[in-house]
Amino acid sequence: MLKKLVFLGMGGTIAGTAQSMADNVGYKAAQKGVEQLLEAIPTLRAALGDLQPKTEQVAQVDSKDMGWSHWRALAFRAQQYLESSDVAALVITHGTDTLEETAFFLSQVLAPALIARKPVVLTCAMRPASSMSPDGPQNVLDAVAVARSDRAAGVLVVCAGAVHAARAVQKVHPYRLNAFDSGDGGPLGFVEEGVVRWRHSAADGYSPAQAFSLEHLSDDQWPRVEIVMNFAGASGAVVRALVATPAQGDPPVRGIVVAGTGNGSIHEDLEAALRDAQHIGVRIVRATRCPQGAVVPGSAPLELPHSDGLSPVKARIALMLDLMQ
Ligand code: SIN
Repeated sequence: MLKKLVFLGMGGTIAGTAQSMADNVGYKAAQKGVEQLLEAIPTLRAALGDLQPKTEQVAQVDSKDMGWSHWRALAFRAQQYLESSDVAALVITHGTDTLEETAFFLSQVLAPALIARKPVVLTCAMRPASSMSPDGPQNVLDAVAVARSDRAAGVLVVCAGAVHAARAVQKVHPYRLNAFDSGDGGPLGFVEEGVVRWRHSAADGYSPAQAFSLEHLSDDQWPRVEIVMNFAGASGAVVRALVATPAQGDPPVRGIVVAGTGNGSIHEDLEAALRDAQHIGVRIVRATRCPQGAVVPGSAPLELPHSDGLSPVKARIALMLDLMQ
């Protein structure tokens, strides 16, 4: 039986179009369907080898507008495909702006036993499909090479020839084609002429989530978890406003991630407000706004727990999932 490589479309710049071929910035994201994107790649057939392509448009969104309903739909569709015996792997086309969040979310909710055998590879583009020189087609081909690699596992991100783990990857540049970085550890590997050169085993970047059943994903909305940042002159005013009675229709704040300075340090007034919030039941997590490294806990017990190396946006996802369990 021929196995399938399933392409799930989520939108993004990779599916974007502009009025002019020369315009790589003034475009509208999420205009072309995933099927159209694949049709525009003449060498895709050869890259797929003995895999049969199957496409599904799960969402068509500029990823800045990614929301709970998109993630929920994607997680359920992805899991359904992974459970099917004729599916070998998934490739997801997605906008770059919140790609790291979707990748981390999927890495936490998809069944660990399935993604250990069937990789889920997210890819993207920094230039729209209408560009004179789009980067999307090569990124898709590279994602296919990774999806076919025997050594691929877990949820991976492929962009500009580099392979990143969902936990480590971060968008670090608003314009250049290699916009992603994996911080201290570097990428897991590189794709060169259709061949993946692994620097680390994909399993190194893949820490199976605790068993999280998709049934725990709430139907309507995620628990509200906000992110606040420490900076020179920060105060507790934002936190006090967040935990005050919510405006009609707004859900109450259940958690706050603080993007601390340096090793997770927090202005004393902000810290006092966070402690007060914690005392009334709001979950607080301390991360760092530094783009690399992790908060290193000292020997003294921390009143505000740290994010275990997760960036603020990923710590927010981890906390939301924890609150849903
Ligand atoms: C988006 O994230 O959907 C738009 C920006 C991009 O894909 O580069």
